Amino acid sequence: PASPEARDRLVLGVVGGSGLYEIEGLTEVEKVALETPFGRPSDAYTVGVLPREGGLPPVRAVFLPRHGRGHVLLPSEINFRANVHGFKQLGVTHLVSVSAVGSLREGIAPGHVVVPDQFIDRTNGRAQTFFGGGLVAHVQMGDPVDAGLRERLLRAAEAEGANIHARGTCVVMEGPAFSTRAESNLYRAWGADVIGMTALPEAKLAREAEIAYALLAMATDYDCWHQSEEEVSVEAVVAVLKANAALSRRIVRRVAAALPLTTAELPYPQALTHALITDPARVP
Ligand code: ADE
Repeated sequence: PASPEARDRLVLGVVGGSGLYEIEGLTEVEKVALETPFGRPSDAYTVGVLPREGGLPPVRAVFLPRHGRGHVLLPSEINFRANVHGFKQLGVTHLVSVSAVGSLREGIAPGHVVVPDQFIDRTNGRAQTFFGGGLVAHVQMGDPVDAGLRERLLRAAEAEGANIHARGTCVVMEGPAFSTRAESNLYRAWGADVIGMTALPEAKLAREAEIAYALLAMATDYDCWHQSEEEVSVEAVVAVLKANAALSRRIVRRVAAALPLTTAELPYPQALTHALITDPARVP
């Protein structure tokens, strides 16, 4: 367990999705390649400090491109456990996850920003827990997104003039192929608003690691339910991705600038205190 002082210091983690391979304004930059008990993360972490407003000392930040340098990992190939374990090793307390998503709603147009508050898991066979092997724990996922960090993201996105959707349900599918039209319509009927391929199991692992998690979902396309548009093509997604990447970099920078330096204001989550845990030491 971390010392009380280490636990109090807020460290911002950023995991970049498709199109976001660096963060802006990071100084005292260091590349840290890590091994974890769950294998190797997607890439080396970029560790540094980001400036804050009003002459306040900079905040520590850690960046990881989710798909690796050069975008070489499919969503199903990402070692989410290693990625989150690495963030934890580097002291990250609050993780902003940036992810490209398809829109399931007319009102969410490509280029819009959604800060989801719920997820529906349609991934298949991904390793999604640090537990097992004799250690049993069930963390709560009723509210999978950290409310304080979500609020910060919303304020930052608003200040950047983004078209924002303040809440939403994100379906996370296995991919790599996009959905069939029947699936797309099914997700709409379920009340989902956007669809991506990577926010889970990331959010679940962050919860287990007691890292506060929030998702900045950048809409790149209308998913295939939207019959008046062409079907999702990689070219169309990439064009919007580039514009979204610039916007997400500005939002992340603004979030960092407004963050407190300790976890007092944005509380350090204590998921395991409330988890159902079997302590093997107590099993006869
Ligand atoms: N990521 C970006 N667009 C997507 C879509 N339409 N479906 C799933 N993931 C996506």
